[in-house]
Amino acid sequence: METILIKVNREKPEQESIARAGKIIRDGGLVAFPTETVYGLGGDALNPASSRRIYEAKGRPSDNPLIVHICQWESMNRIARRIPEEAKKLADAFWPGPLTMILPKTDSVPKETTGGLDTVAVRFPSDRIAQEFIRASGGFVAAPSANTSGRPSPTLARYVWEDLGGRIEMILDGGEVGIGLESTIVDLSGSVPMILRPGYVTKEMLKDVLGSVDTDRTIWDQNCRERPKAPGMRYRHYAPRGVLTIVEGRPDRVAEEICAGSRKAKKEGARVGILATDESLEKYRAESAADSIKSVGSRTDEDSVGRSLYRILREFDEEEISVIYSESFSDSGFGQAIMNRLLKAAGHRVKNV
Ligand code: TXA
Ligand code: MG
Repeated sequence: METILIKVNREKPEQESIARAGKIIRDGGLVAFPTETVYGLGGDALNPASSRRIYEAKGRPSDNPLIVHICQWESMNRIARRIPEEAKKLADAFWPGPLTMILPKTDSVPKETTGGLDTVAVRFPSDRIAQEFIRASGGFVAAPSANTSGRPSPTLARYVWEDLGGRIEMILDGGEVGIGLESTIVDLSGSVPMILRPGYVTKEMLKDVLGSVDTDRTIWDQNCRERPKAPGMRYRHYAPRGVLTIVEGRPDRVAEEICAGSRKAKKEGARVGILATDESLEKYRAESAADSIKSVGSRTDEDSVGRSLYRILREFDEEEISVIYSESFSDSGFGQAIMNRLLKAAGHRVKNV
């Protein structure tokens, strides 16, 4: 299949391109589009055949449910059977934006879209291209991240092309996304609101609105015997091709350990990459033997780290890096989302020094 790649102006999306993309979705096809978090792979959420095609294009297990993207609050009535007070409060505070809510679903949402579950994940993105595309598509777009299963989510249209070119009808290229990590997921279908995936809307922000909120304990405890409540969190995800180790501890010791590890791996014939920060870059340049040293952003600006993390993991792949060392990040605020994705990329390989 030939994939059409179209550049779209984020401030003023070209209506002809949006209409063309919307028609593809209404006809049962697939279109990748930018959101404020990562690129999504969209299909008609109310059409079971479209959802089946999404799983096929991504190579994703079909028991891993999709998020339904809407472009107005009123659309909730069509897909959510019960809308608790908490949902209204969260929507007032964070929609449109990088927050996904899980609610009991109506019969309008096919089981193919929800991976067989009785609940549906709903998100109202703030990206202008996303909103206009969803409207042109009929208002309900099922969209997982637009990567092939197991690769980092795409933050640029080029990465969507690499993973899905030839398998989908169209890619809308709106440039680099703003946040870079997937939305926060909150489950409102149970008795207590529960975070299933940390994201840009932090636990603290949710607490301010809801009073209290739980976190799925499987997110941080890799030895926990329970199954993660978001099926997607079960799979090894966001994995670079190289073996990634996170080094945690006092900054000077971390740098020493990473330099020593990198020299050793180099001697053993590895191609070594270091994921550093603006603050530490020079130290590695001077003392490590690494082939590729990259800053993921500044420690004084966590947003910059979130925005670049997946791009840098992909760049290490392009450079055929086989051993990667990374510094670790704070485990509060947006740092929780950064550490969650980094830990998954590392298969929870952490060295404390
Ligand atoms: O930022 C985002 O959320 C991006 C953009 C494209 O909107 N989308 C995204 O989708 O990250 P995906 O499919 O890569 O991740 C969705 C996660 C998966 O872990 C899935 O298991 C979980 O949401 N999920 C979806 N529906 C669910 C449900 N009904 N109950 C529990 N977890 C659900
Ligand atoms: Mg994903």
